[in-house]
Amino acid sequence: MWLFFYPHLLFPRLFFILRPCFPSKAAANVKGFLIPRNIFSKKNYFFSFRFHITSSIQKPNFALYFATITKKHNLMKKHNFNAGPAVLPASVLEKAAQAVQDINGIGLSLLEISHRSPEFSAIMDKTVQLVRDLMHVDEGYEVLFLTGGASSQFFMVPLNLLGPDEKACYIDSGAWSSKAIKETGRYGKLEVIASSKPDGYTHIPKNYSIPTDAKYLHFTSNNTIYGTQFHAFPETAVPLVADMSSDIMSRPVDVRPFGLIYAGAQKNIGPAGTTLVIVRKDMLGTFERDIPSMLDYRNHASNNSLYNTAPVFPIFVSMLTLQWIQDLGGLEAMEQRNRAKQELLYREIDSNPLFKGRCVPEDRSWMNVTFEVTRPELEGDFLKACKDAGIEGIKGHRSAGGFRASLYNALPQESVQVLVDVMRHFSAINQ
Ligand SMILES: Cc1ncc(COP(=O)(O)O)c(C=O)c1O
Repeated sequence: MWLFFYPHLLFPRLFFILRPCFPSKAAANVKGFLIPRNIFSKKNYFFSFRFHITSSIQKPNFALYFATITKKHNLMKKHNFNAGPAVLPASVLEKAAQAVQDINGIGLSLLEISHRSPEFSAIMDKTVQLVRDLMHVDEGYEVLFLTGGASSQFFMVPLNLLGPDEKACYIDSGAWSSKAIKETGRYGKLEVIASSKPDGYTHIPKNYSIPTDAKYLHFTSNNTIYGTQFHAFPETAVPLVADMSSDIMSRPVDVRPFGLIYAGAQKNIGPAGTTLVIVRKDMLGTFERDIPSMLDYRNHASNNSLYNTAPVFPIFVSMLTLQWIQDLGGLEAMEQRNRAKQELLYREIDSNPLFKGRCVPEDRSWMNVTFEVTRPELEGDFLKACKDAGIEGIKGHRSAGGFRASLYNALPQESVQVLVDVMRHFSAINQ
């Protein structure tokens, strides 16, 4: 039985076979056939071809489904649309696995050496230098790799930057900014100058005025849960502070108007476990406060992020990922890559009557594409169709529902194409 359906697994070069595709519950009147898999395979590349024929009582429908050349290496991998922790480049994972066995051929694992060893000091320096090079961060800023996640920055930012009599302004554009807001009032004065909460966070707030006496203006550049993004930053002389957790390194950013940028690593930088903080030196130490040592940016800055035992593995993998970005052409190249991916997906959402986007078009996120099916009874079947195609992590955040496709830097265009193909096919069989 197994051999009948999958002989190509035994003889990949020889077999080209018809494999029945079992109809989903929602399309019980549809018969489908997949002619999948390997027409030929070369040493490193794999040509895969799928021809999908469906017919229904109402409408025959023939569709040429997939024709892709994939690196063999990626074949066993899923199409990873997770929102974070998220997809990492395959080459980064390979190098990380090697370093866990033996770092730089010294006969010890990266996980077994001191964070103060020459090997790790070089990794730390290189990681910081890559951030400086990629984002054009000059010496007026500290570049830190900390622990505690972006969530710890919600309180570390006001603790370090906001004196008791000073005022910080916040824009509330989603769940993460409202968490940052919640932490701020206890350290100084807080003013929420705009919020899109009444509209279900479906857009970025606009038409607000920024008090000129504010110490800083905080915003979340990309709203991971609701799927909106600032495509232009607020223009003001007040220093900007941004939570860039979910769109850092996805496009060029002029850091000069920023007093501070922070980002958890686990979307575009590396794995969970470290948080990047870029802070302008003159924003620190401007008032008296007894700050616990581990929460004081100045302690981390004067110790090159090695005030305590640094999270060596997340920092090392971040270095590899930043190097991967640089090798591909830096943030300009990432922007081009991400532009193409989001265009492909939003085009399908807008043209396919079975789907609709959740946010206003001008504020749509390039990183987290949120959408719904227009016939809610088909939600479960669509999820299943995605799963069958190897698509992972497409379910919307538990507080937002619907679907969310996260298109971070390392997600290949090919994965977005697979998702679009599934959407088209699913729509065709559910007409
Ligand atoms: C925009 C944004 N800010 C903050 C966080 C919280 O990050 P962490 O879990 O590292 O504390 C997240 C997590 O997804 C996020 O997307």
